[in-house]
Amino acid sequence: MDSRSAVVGASLDEVKEADVDALAKAFGERIYFVAQVQRWGPFDNEVFVARQGEDILGTVTLGPIEEKELRESEPFSKHPSRLLSHLEVPPPQRGRGIGTWIMAEMESRLAARDFRYVVLGVDESNEGAQRLYRKLGYQAWAGSPLRTVKRSFHESCTWGDEPEYCLVYYKDLSPA
Ligand SMILES: CC(C)(COP(=O)(O)OP(=O)(O)OC[C@H]1O[C@@H](n2cnc3c(N)ncnc32)[C@H](O)[C@@H]1OP(=O)(O)O)[C@@H](O)C(=O)NCCC(=O)NCCS
Repeated sequence: MDSRSAVVGASLDEVKEADVDALAKAFGERIYFVAQVQRWGPFDNEVFVARQGEDILGTVTLGPIEEKELRESEPFSKHPSRLLSHLEVPPPQRGRGIGTWIMAEMESRLAARDFRYVVLGVDESNEGAQRLYRKLGYQAWAGSPLRTVKRSFHESCTWGDEPEYCLVYYKDLSPA
């Protein structure tokens, strides 16, 4: 399939409360989306939803680099940098170029806002996603694997963090 046809007429907007049901249906993890739109906790995240008509094509989150070790290391300590996380395309829609399109959109929006680096963490076992990021020009951060946290949200409007290790990839958004 022509990969561009998968995203013809698609939109990529910040998630609103009214989107939560559709997102929960597409991805599960309802509580994650509720927590983000209701802005629980000290987070400064932006959660996006990709749609094509009534169909959900994907989601992605942008936020600050929470891990001190990463935030304070070069090159991220010297230049505005944003963490990209929770990239997901619903299983029936995968392999059609949608993940590639979401990443390209996020990169150009971040560059337009003068962010220099986009940074992300990926599970060591997630070879498919790593292939996607390498193909898009991401490079492995030398300090990988990084000890980070897997955050779970609870109905009581609280959250808990569990330690997790991930590989860090990043991309310089400045024009070559
Ligand atoms: C990773 C993900 C977002 C990619 O979305 P997508 O729409 O399928 O991506 P694309 O169609 O643009 O594929 C681009 C490339 O991704 C790579 N890729 C991604 N997932 C893959 C998988 N499961 N198996 C093989 N290759 C994969 C391939 O290199 C592919 O390029 P190719 O088709 O030319 O070989 C999607 O597979 C997904 O939602 N996975 C589950 C959640 C996840 O792992 N998110 C990443 C967290 S770091």
